[in-house]
Amino acid sequence: MINKGIILAGGMGTRMSPLTKAVNKQLLPIYDKPLIYYPLSILMLAKIKNILIIVNKGQLNQYKKLLPNGKNLGLNITFKEQDRPRGLPDAFILGEKFINQSNVAMILGDNFFYGQNLSKLLHNCAKLKNGAKIILHSVQNPELFGVAKINNKNKKILKIIEKPKKFVSNHAITGLYFFDKNVVNYAKELKPSKRGELEIIDLINKYKIKNKLTAEFIGRGGAWLDTGSISDYYKTSAFVQAIENRQGLKIACIEEIAHLNGWIKKKEIQNQIKFYGKCEYSNYLRNLIK
Ligand code: DAU
Repeated sequence: MINKGIILAGGMGTRMSPLTKAVNKQLLPIYDKPLIYYPLSILMLAKIKNILIIVNKGQLNQYKKLLPNGKNLGLNITFKEQDRPRGLPDAFILGEKFINQSNVAMILGDNFFYGQNLSKLLHNCAKLKNGAKIILHSVQNPELFGVAKINNKNKKILKIIEKPKKFVSNHAITGLYFFDKNVVNYAKELKPSKRGELEIIDLINKYKIKNKLTAEFIGRGGAWLDTGSISDYYKTSAFVQAIENRQGLKIACIEEIAHLNGWIKKKEIQNQIKFYGKCEYSNYLRNLIK
């Protein structure tokens, strides 16, 4: 089973300026918790305990205030700074030591997933031994994403393209990837594209060429939402608010997931309540251990 995961949580957040001038985008709220809790919860649902968070140079202290080391979550969290946005595959170059010849998952810090069969899907993905796996979701605006053209009969991936100008497919490649240990060497072989960044699509293509790329699909019952712009942020927040208020259950409560996974006990949750102080989130945690 894959037990290492990277959250790529740097980037300039230019589209969301001035909100992102002093605070990294992934620390801004999606309803009642910072955005980073959502991708972190996805790795935790995949039962991944060793996590590397890649952040912008100069923003490490912001993150450490929120997620010092992961102990109270039963996790081992480490950080690495990226000096500038060199592209998504840079995560594997920066993470070489952390990866240390293991298979690894990566999730983009601004990706939001929700749905009934998600844990099962994640669990299956984490079983990857060789090759790479991408997660696809239907969208109305494929020109904004990487997309994969699929043979509808055998679900084989025919073609992958980054932000196609002309319609190719509406299967967007979400920002959650599972790779075997070769990913580090493949990332090192990449050359920057015209926009000066290493491209994730070029990295995935290395696996596709070798016939080692597979895909999982998030169906109609699942949601993958965008947090790319300010209005996307509000829409995603409204989604979380609607579901949480209806069910009385929180999405991406990282302490709850750690507890359900059997990684932490009452004591760690009590520590987290102290850490957060008097707030609605603490009340929720208190109820969990009643
Ligand atoms: O969200 C899914 C999409 O993410 C995929 O469909 C695309 O194939 C993939 O290229 C990516 O596209 P974006 O245009 O959304 O990527 P963006 O540059 O916005 O970066 C995504 C996140 O990664 C964001 O939170 C910032 C962070 N990032 C990005 C780069 C390039 C870093 O931390 N470092 C980087 O060097």
